[in-house]
Order: sequence, then C-alpha cells, then structure tokens
Amino acid sequence: MIEAANVPHARRVLELGPGTGAITEVIHDCLPSSAQFLGLDLNEVFVRQLQRRFPNHEFVCSAAQSFDFDSWLNHGEGFDAIVSGLPWTAFPHALQIDILQHVLPRLAPGGCFVTFAYWGLHLLPGGRHFRELLQRQHGTTLRTTSIVWRNTPPAFVYVVQRSRN
Ligand SMILES: C[S@@+](CC[C@H](N)C(=O)[O-])C[C@H]1O[C@@H](n2cnc3c(N)ncnc32)[C@H](O)[C@@H]1O
Repeated sequence: MIEAANVPHARRVLELGPGTGAITEVIHDCLPSSAQFLGLDLNEVFVRQLQRRFPNHEFVCSAAQSFDFDSWLNHGEGFDAIVSGLPWTAFPHALQIDILQHVLPRLAPGGCFVTFAYWGLHLLPGGRHFRELLQRQHGTTLRTTSIVWRNTPPAFVYVVQRSRN
C-alpha cells in the first residue's frame, strides 16, 4: 500500500479509517518529517489513542464522506497519497459512491489513492461495484498490484492515480 502510493515522497497524506493504527505506523515510519498527515476515523476512542501515539500527526473523528477538506487544505492543494483501510466491500453502494465522490477530487495531480481488497471478496456484489466505481473515475487510471499470498487472507491493492494535468 505504502510503496504503491509513494508515501516516502508525499507532502500531504490522508488516511481513511486508520482504526488501531497498523497502517498508520508504517506511514509514520517512512513519511518525510516536513510532510503533513491527516487521519479520519468515525471511532472516537481510536482517534484519541492515535492522537496520543502519533502527536505530530492530526486525527479527526469524522466520517470520510463529510469532512470539510477546505478547512484543512490551502487553496489549490491536494493529497499526494490517500491510503484507505475502509471496509469497502461491506459498505452499501451509495456509501461507496459518497465517499469516493467526496475524497477522490482531493487527490493532487499525479497523486494516488490506494486501498486493499481481499482476494475472492472482490467478486462479491459489493466488491464488484466498488471496482467498477474505481474504473469509472474521470481523469484517473486504475491498476491492481499482484496478489499478496502471504497475507491472511490473501489480498491485493487497488491504485487509482490522478493524471498530472
Ligand atoms: C477495518 S478498520 C481499520 C483497519 C486499520 N488499518 C487498523 O489497523 O485498525 C476500519 C476503520 O474505518 C472506520 N470507518 C468506518 N466507516 C468510516 C467512515 N465512513 N469514515 C471514516 N472512518 C470510517 C472504522 O471506525 C474503523 O476504525
């Protein structure tokens, strides 16, 4: 996820659903000290714990689909990397659409949105709908990584990259 989103070279990173911080920790370890990080999670307890654990990063208790990005980004700025740990396959179709419509326009030119899918579950209706949405995003390209068989269960990563112009 982190390599695919080129986090070590990012200036601004958004993490959706950091939860207990497993992915946050990897981001933290490779993020340049000058970079800005924002994590959005619905769970207040997780947000408080993450803020204590990573005091140099910012965590907000908010739904990804309703956060006011204009309050955080300066005019014309976007995220170089958006890393998602959200359970997309379990979401209703309308919520998948709402979150992607709200978040993907905040990608900087050339920036990447990454999220993982468990192999097999991506063929369920929710997984297929999500993939179709990713394929349909205007001004972006979609690729998938190879399957990581060592993961339990095996998983792969969707990488949506916004065009540079
Ligand atoms: C699968 S867990 C996160 C996994 C994470 N990588 C970890 O290490 O715990 C998904 C997280 O997304 C959060 N979440 C679910 N729906 C959300 C939404 N609409 N906006 C923001 N966070 C959400 C949940 O509160 C939960 O913490």
